Amino acid sequence: MLKSVILVWALLSACFVAACSTDPEPLRVWTAADHAHPPENLVDPTRVPQQERPDLTVGELLWQGKCARCHGPTGQGGREASVNFTSADWQASMDDRRIAQTIAAGKPPNMPSFADLLSGTQIEELVKHIRAFGRN
Ligand code: HEC
Repeated sequence: MLKSVILVWALLSACFVAACSTDPEPLRVWTAADHAHPPENLVDPTRVPQQERPDLTVGELLWQGKCARCHGPTGQGGREASVNFTSADWQASMDDRRIAQTIAAGKPPNMPSFADLLSGTQIEELVKHIRAFGRN
């Protein structure tokens, strides 16, 4: 009697183990994030924004999304950054390469680095946009 109880128990636990190991992945509930746009750095910067807002340049779109909150919408300086990109003196003091490097690497202590958030093309578009501030 004891023998058959042990046998049944062994059989049951074997089935249990087998069932567990072949269980499919638990069902995953889709969230809003699964349907969201791809991250901005994976969107082709020269096409998608142009299609969505043909009235704005790529640089303007990036500026409004990433930079305006600190530098102000018109580049004259804002709450966090005092530098005035519309100033002729500032424009003359920087070359394009240095502007691009500053955007990528940041400028301690308060200018964040954008190397991981923006592609090289996006940074070039921002440099053009910062230059456009100087022509207004
Ligand atoms: C969290 C606030 C913040 C954000 C966001 C930010 N910046 Fe800055 N940035 C600063 C600060 C602060 C400085 C330091 C200069 C100052 O104090 O005015 C600075 C400096 C710079 C400089 C160098 C100015 C100089 O004379 O050396 C450039 C170029 C620049 N930012 C471009 C950008 C661009 C382009 C973006 C968007 C991709 C951006 N920044 C986003 C805060 C910010």
